[in-house]
Amino acid sequence: MKSYQTNSINNLHKISVAPMMDCTDKHFRMIMRKISSKALLYTEMIVVQSLIYTDKKEKFLNFNSEERPLSIQFGGDDPKMLKEAAKIAQDWGYDEINFNVGCPSPRVCSGNFGASLMKEPKKVAKCIESLKNNCTLPVTIKHRIGVDQEYSFEKLNSFVKEVANAGADRFIVHARKAILKGLNPKQNRTIPPLKYDVVKELKTMNPELLIEINGGFTNIDQCINALNDFDGVMIGRSAYKHPLIWSEIDQKIYKENNKIKSASEVIFSLIPYIENHLKNKGNSWDICKHLINLVENIPKAKIWRNKVSNKSKQKEFNIDYLIKITSELREMGY
Ligand SMILES: Cc1cc2nc3c(=O)[nH]c(=O)nc-3n(C[C@H](O)[C@H](O)[C@H](O)COP(=O)(O)O)c2cc1C
Repeated sequence: MKSYQTNSINNLHKISVAPMMDCTDKHFRMIMRKISSKALLYTEMIVVQSLIYTDKKEKFLNFNSEERPLSIQFGGDDPKMLKEAAKIAQDWGYDEINFNVGCPSPRVCSGNFGASLMKEPKKVAKCIESLKNNCTLPVTIKHRIGVDQEYSFEKLNSFVKEVANAGADRFIVHARKAILKGLNPKQNRTIPPLKYDVVKELKTMNPELLIEINGGFTNIDQCINALNDFDGVMIGRSAYKHPLIWSEIDQKIYKENNKIKSASEVIFSLIPYIENHLKNKGNSWDICKHLINLVENIPKAKIWRNKVSNKSKQKEFNIDYLIKITSELREMGY
């Protein structure tokens, strides 16, 4: 078997924003990029079959260069299709490829990919090899600590070793099991307990591998603490629902000197982008549905959010209106 070099410092990303279907589209990623110039961002999961067979590839693949560093996440189980997908990702300008072995959705698992693949380490290794052999990008994997109750630590450890041998450059471990029968995807993100100690043990047993922790992080101090044990922290729901909580990533994690942005500063920095989207006949709600999460925990936040939502849903939203109500936010100091 070909031997790959892992653990390159280039693949180290201390903080990332998790791939989330229907959330981490290019508009949300632009918002996050204005909040942190450093965090690694991920696309939503793209099913490789859909990507290969569509003649509208740009629908899946388009992004703004400002979003980089950007990882594209693939779901699939066919090395031949992954080979094509790897080439496409590289040609399109993505910074790395992530392979999804953590999604517990029955629809995904019935196609025999996502979390159910944790039961088939050899197949996953073939998929990783196929991605690695067909591009020069780092190839990473996102997985759980196991699937179903009987999955042991030994199984997890040998899964990771097998996938590392196939060339995976980084492991992002959602620190809970996926229960494939009986729990829906949402329950699978809350009911199986978070076990950071299992991921810590994995890192201890495999110090040469880059291992990131994911699951349940809600503030920056928790992440700083976790970085003592892990190579990176991935934030999901909290970044989506409360993006501004994460406004100190650059300063506190990456020791950058740039200024921490307020809600109005983030929105003002997005004005040219939003203007361009509207000019190209883009739907305002595509962006506003994410933007409203920026304004919370301040006086009149709900009123601000309702104004944006109503105007957008009634198709009366325009850039002057956004500037007007965001100036009001700024005048209040937010
Ligand atoms: C709405 C939603 C969609 C998600 N979609 C994906 C996905 O496409 N790919 C993936 O690997 N994980 C997906 N996840 C899981 C997250 O990436 C993450 O692993 C999980 O939410 C745990 O992290 P958190 O506690 O910080 O949210 C999704 C989670 C949510 C809430």
